[in-house]
Amino acid sequence: MSEEHRIASPVMTPEEIHFDASLRPTRFEEFIGQEKVKENLRIFVQAARERKEALDHVLLVGPPGLGKTTLSHILARELGVEVKVTSGPVLERQGDLAAILTNLSPRDILFVDEIHRMNRVVEEVLYPAMEEFQLDILIGQGPSARSIRIDLPRFTLVGATTRSGMLTSPLRDRFGIFVRLDYYGAEDIARVVRRSASILNVGLADGGDEEIARRARGTPRIANRLLRRVRDYAQVRGDGTITREAACEGLALLEVDERGLDPMDRKLLLAIIDKFDGGPVGIDTLSAALSEDKETLEDVYEPFLIQEGLLDRTPRGRVATRRTFEYFGRPVPERRQNGAAGGEQGRLL
Ligand SMILES: Nc1ncnc2c1ncn2[C@@H]1O[C@H](COP(=O)(O)OP(=O)(O)OP(=O)(O)O)[C@@H](O)[C@H]1O
Ligand SMILES: [Mg+2]
Repeated sequence: MSEEHRIASPVMTPEEIHFDASLRPTRFEEFIGQEKVKENLRIFVQAARERKEALDHVLLVGPPGLGKTTLSHILARELGVEVKVTSGPVLERQGDLAAILTNLSPRDILFVDEIHRMNRVVEEVLYPAMEEFQLDILIGQGPSARSIRIDLPRFTLVGATTRSGMLTSPLRDRFGIFVRLDYYGAEDIARVVRRSASILNVGLADGGDEEIARRARGTPRIANRLLRRVRDYAQVRGDGTITREAACEGLALLEVDERGLDPMDRKLLLAIIDKFDGGPVGIDTLSAALSEDKETLEDVYEPFLIQEGLLDRTPRGRVATRRTFEYFGRPVPERRQNGAAGGEQGRLL
């Protein structure tokens, strides 16, 4: 399946990265929704500023595209400090992390994206760094090797992850502030669409914003992505203004349906129904059947389908629900008529 047809994909083209940067909120005022999160963070930031201390370490958890990276930059800006950016998979050796840590200034933010994918050996460097602001490094090799301890400036680690469950507990325990981002409500997503349209100078009329919002899976990144595609459609086929009609037509061409499901979502659900008799089917089998990376299925596609009640995770595997059958206009099998899911199985997540 081409990237074109993956509206939910976290993969971004270079031009989309540029576009994304132009729309990224830089202050709390511009960050739409997530009111509780913002309220708490504002208090912590102000308190740290007044005490002239580094903010406690922050762990940001949530599905792709909800604003974790954006928030880490907002935190730096509001604290008036620099942010150094890296990611779990990039830090291959202890030295990679040590080099970044020793280059921080007091109160700076170190943003580690995909922190759950950090190598365990590298992770161990973080424990004393986060707790005591100290770095233990080994100099030399063999019998002459010795360990030296270096003082680090007091900094703030901001970790982002799509899965907090994959963090080791020593790492998780060292964060003082936990932020969980959830899918945005339709009203907030419509505000994201209006904000972006105004920055891009695109006209919206009679419900064009709501139509895009309804199909954006509660995700700002997807809302912006849909807006951009619909803008092209409205420009070529209309007068450039995004009306409800233009949004509907443009999104139908992209095969994004009324609820925001894209071809990959439908392929996944149909595989469970047609190839595995509605499930349960294990994630490895499903990933092989779809030739799709297991992590992408788990992090990108499943959370939204689960939230929509179109998929259930059970201890025995993934199961199509009554709603899944109804969504495709298929007769609901006997055993699914009573419960939302596969009946007797308990929920895993
Ligand atoms: N609350 C918000 N208000 C307005 N725009 C937002 C908000 N949250 C995110 N966005 C927009 O969505 C885009 C994606 O957000 P961001 O890159 O921060 O997501 P993420 O959680 O880091 O995703 P990933 O897990 O894929 O790294 C941002 O560039 C920004 O334009
Ligand atoms: Mg990010």
